[in-house]
Amino acid sequence: MILNFCMIKSIVKNLIKNKIPLNSLNYELNLDEKKSIMQGGIYSKYLSSISKLSLNELCILFRTDKASMYENIVYDNEKKKYVKSLIVGHNYGRYYEKYNKKNIKNIVEIGSFLGCGTGAFKCFFNKSKIFALDINFDGNLINSKKIKKIHLDQSDKDQLKKFIKKNKLYKNIDLISDDGSHIDEHILISFKALFPSLKKGGKYFIEDVTKELTPKTYEIFIKNKTKMLQRIKSIKIFKSNISAKTQSKSKQRYLIIIEKS
Ligand SMILES: C[S@@+](CC[C@H](N)C(=O)[O-])C[C@H]1O[C@@H](n2cnc3c(N)ncnc32)[C@H](O)[C@@H]1O
Repeated sequence: MILNFCMIKSIVKNLIKNKIPLNSLNYELNLDEKKSIMQGGIYSKYLSSISKLSLNELCILFRTDKASMYENIVYDNEKKKYVKSLIVGHNYGRYYEKYNKKNIKNIVEIGSFLGCGTGAFKCFFNKSKIFALDINFDGNLINSKKIKKIHLDQSDKDQLKKFIKKNKLYKNIDLISDDGSHIDEHILISFKALFPSLKKGGKYFIEDVTKELTPKTYEIFIKNKTKMLQRIKSIKIFKSNISAKTQSKSKQRYLIIIEKS
C-alpha cells in the first residue's frame, strides 16, 4: 500500500495524540511568578487564592501521592495509549499541615522526583526555604528562589553531613520528609545523620513504611524499639490510604512522625 501525504499526516497526528504524554508535570513552572499566563495573553493573578488552599488541596493541584486523590497521566498497557487516571493517594498532606506554618523556616525533603511535593510544600509553608534532595532531577521543572535542589544520595552519611554543614542547618531544621528510596538501610542512615539537626520540637516524617518492604524501620519505630535513638519526644504512626483495599497488589503503608525533644 502506498501512503499518501494525508495518511501520513493522520498517522503522525494519532501517534502524537496517543503516545506523547500530555502531562503538565513535565512542563516548567516558576512559583515566584506573581501571575500565571492563560491563553490569548490573559493573566491569572493566582497568589492570594493559592495561599488559602490547604496542603491537601495543594497536593491535589500539584499531583503528588501525598494527596487524598490526584489526577495522573499513565500509559494503559491494555489500551496501548496514554490515559487520564484518577488515583487514591496516601493522604499524608493532612499530617504535614498541622504545623503552624509561620514558624517553619527550613524544610528538608528527601526524594523530590518531579517536584510535585516540593511545589506543594513551597506554596503551603510560604515562609520556608525547601532543601530538595534527590539523586535524579531529570524532569523536575518546578522552580523557585525558595527551593534549593541538591544532588545527594541519602544512603551516604558523609554527603548528608556535608550538606548540613554547608547550609548551616545543624539544629536549624523544622521539618524533614523522607520520601526517597524507601530502602530500610537508606532510611536509617538518613535518620541518624539528619535527626540531630532538627530544632527542638522539630518533626521527622518517614513515608510509606511497610512491615514487608521496610521491616527494620517498621520494627524500630512501629514496634517501638527505639533504645538506640536519642532525644525522641514522641512517635506517631498513621495509616496511609493506600492498602490492598484501595490499590491492587499494595501492602498497607504507614507514615511515621518522630518529634524531637
Ligand atoms: C517517591 S519519589 C518522591 C516523590 C515526591 N516526594 C512527591 O511528593 O512527588 C522518590 C524519589 O526518591 C529519589 N531517590 C531514590 N533513591 C534515592 C537516594 N538514594 N537518595 C536520594 N533520593 C533518592 C528518586 O530519584 C525519586 O525521585
